[in-house]
Amino acid sequence: MKIKGLLQLQQIEQTIDAAQTELEREGIEEKLCLVFRLALEEILLIYRERFGGDAAFSLCFRKWNGDLKVRLSVAGEAADPFAQDSFILGELRKDFRNAPTWRFKGQQNQVYFLFELYTTTLKNFMFSRKYIAGSRKLLALTVVCQIISALLGILAPAIGARIIIAYTHNEANRVMLIAVTLLGVQLLRNLFLVISNQGYNRIYTRTLSALEKDLVSNVLHIESRCVDEKGSGLFIQRITVDTSRIASGFNNIADMVTQVLNYFGVLCAMFMVNPFISLLVVVIIGVQCIMELWRTKRLYADDRIFRSANERFSGLVSEMVRGARDVKLLNSEARFTETLNDRIEEANEKKLFMQSRSWNAKLIRWEIGEFGSFALIAFLAYLIARGLIIPSVALIFYNYYTELGPNAVKTIGNFMDSIADFNISNERIHALLNSPEFPKEHFGSVELASPKGEITFEHVDFAYEPAEGKKVLDDLSFTIHPGEMVGLVGKSGCGKSTTFNLISKLYEATRGRVLLDGIDIQDLTHDSIRNSMTVVTQNPYIFRMTVKENLKVVKEDMTDEEMEEVCRLACIDEDIKTMPYGYDTLIGEGGVNLSGGQRQRLAIARSMLRDSRIILFDEATSALDNVTQARIQEAIDNMRQGRTVVIIAHRLSTIVGADRILFMQDGRILAEGTHQELMDTCEAYQSLAALETSGDAEPSAGIRQEDTPYGGSRHEGGRRRHRD
Ligand SMILES: Nc1ncnc2c1ncn2[C@@H]1O[C@H](COP(=O)(O)OP(=O)(O)OP(=O)(O)O)[C@@H](O)[C@H]1O
Ligand SMILES: [Mg+2]
Repeated sequence: MKIKGLLQLQQIEQTIDAAQTELEREGIEEKLCLVFRLALEEILLIYRERFGGDAAFSLCFRKWNGDLKVRLSVAGEAADPFAQDSFILGELRKDFRNAPTWRFKGQQNQVYFLFELYTTTLKNFMFSRKYIAGSRKLLALTVVCQIISALLGILAPAIGARIIIAYTHNEANRVMLIAVTLLGVQLLRNLFLVISNQGYNRIYTRTLSALEKDLVSNVLHIESRCVDEKGSGLFIQRITVDTSRIASGFNNIADMVTQVLNYFGVLCAMFMVNPFISLLVVVIIGVQCIMELWRTKRLYADDRIFRSANERFSGLVSEMVRGARDVKLLNSEARFTETLNDRIEEANEKKLFMQSRSWNAKLIRWEIGEFGSFALIAFLAYLIARGLIIPSVALIFYNYYTELGPNAVKTIGNFMDSIADFNISNERIHALLNSPEFPKEHFGSVELASPKGEITFEHVDFAYEPAEGKKVLDDLSFTIHPGEMVGLVGKSGCGKSTTFNLISKLYEATRGRVLLDGIDIQDLTHDSIRNSMTVVTQNPYIFRMTVKENLKVVKEDMTDEEMEEVCRLACIDEDIKTMPYGYDTLIGEGGVNLSGGQRQRLAIARSMLRDSRIILFDEATSALDNVTQARIQEAIDNMRQGRTVVIIAHRLSTIVGADRILFMQDGRILAEGTHQELMDTCEAYQSLAALETSGDAEPSAGIRQEDTPYGGSRHEGGRRRHRD
């Protein structure tokens, strides 16, 4: 593809739109397309400023050796755009796997971008063949059955023709004999057809489940940062739609290879009768096949764009369903519906565009086919007139052509459609499994045989979006000793939950080290990290399962006694007993039919089933009533039992009895000590406590004066109980 224009603002805008679309069509990852768009705009504007709006440019896209080369040429004297002080171009050079280059040649400034194109059908096939490996024998058997059924299918009309001849010759006995043969052939044909279809179904199901299982387990290992960024729609679409397209792709390809073999057989027979006429038939069919290949190639590119749009749509649908309650309460149904409608329109538009281009190409192919038929009829008539063939041979060829031609082209078209589908789905699944676009969590190989429960942060920096440079944790250092109970407090957004995310290695530090028992968590195995700690998050996720099943997620072989014991210790047992089916009550998605406090206590019960050395408890931000707060407090105390406990507290009352309190501000520790020490030495802490006692602060809502530690007794009681 080539785009030409002048450096006029409007033309620049149109060019960058078209260029981005072209890249998307070629399956270049979305982020790279956006970076390219920004860079191209920047470069064009730099040249516009330098040479004025009347300077000419051209943008040329060329595929070469598995890469896509994009060349921008601008007429004028030599000017390297990368020599300019441009933030975007600087970022671009960092971001691209192959940094763009500039050169000056033939009075043209030429900027080259190189994009790696992933796939070829063979590569795709090699990548995904492992999923069909378990069905190889079945596939071979199925293909053989299909070939037999196809051969019998060819035989049936021939036998039918003999019946007609026998009728016309008045040979009743012969008719009966042939009819019995035909019956046998048809019965067998049906049998083989059903066996092959059953085989294909089985292969499809097996391949699909192998793919889905692999994908699901892989998705859970993708870095949380990437899952946050991509959103759920992409994963849902790829796991549900693309897997089934790959699985059916194998079947379609096998099916069509058999059909193509059949047509090849017919062609051979034709060549034996008359090679010259056969050659003409091959040319006519060949031209149509080339048209089909062209059509499917374009379809392939358009389909990629449609699927990205569809991913955006389904992402929003999944969010809308999950957030339906909030959407209603915010009275934003209309706004949401409007956005959803836009996404539906966008996806439909892309689909319509894809289909309309495909139909136009089909029309051209059909018309070529009609001209081909006409040419064949004329050629056969000419041969008969010249006495070169007898009419019956002409008839045979004409019949062959009308039977074979459209079917063969249709098969080729379907075959190419399936290949395109197969390729796109493969690209998308391959990306999910292997591409750096979806980075996987990495763990080390050091086992922590018997964790002690020491946590150390050494000059840790962290940013959710490193590119934007906003540090959430800034040179954070602290050590929590085994068996210690530490409170983590600080203003909302100061990085408390983020600290937990780093301890549990859901995210990785951008600088510095996080250590468990003195070992860098980068070196520890997955199980050493995740088994040594239990995290109760601020908003724990309760699955759409019964209470019992929610607990079993953590411990498959949990006994009923264990279950009741942890629920009692987590102070949720009484609540469960009042539910309609007790432990067998079904909880709604995300725990919708539980209160915030119940959700947290059930999460505590769930975590108690894991006997881990470290407990990280992120207190819910919502102000809980005193009774619930007390019960959660009791649950935490029950959980402690000599373990290392870190509690993120939104009310100081929760952690007043802690061995130590870390007071965080802007991603670092501002002060540390016991509650009393901090009250004596840290002004910021004093004001936090003052806010809480005055009842101004959101977290303290609902705390009565006597409940608070600085004038209260409950927590002393809790601690004393523990010490006993
Ligand atoms: N997944 C995420 N992606 C990007 N930014 C995030 C993400 N999670 C949190 N942040 C940002 O990081 C900062 C720290 O968030 P964090 O959740 O650690 O705060 P917090 O101290 O736990 O606050 P709170 O007391 O309200 O729970 C906030 O500015 C927040 O907007
Ligand atoms: Mg938090």
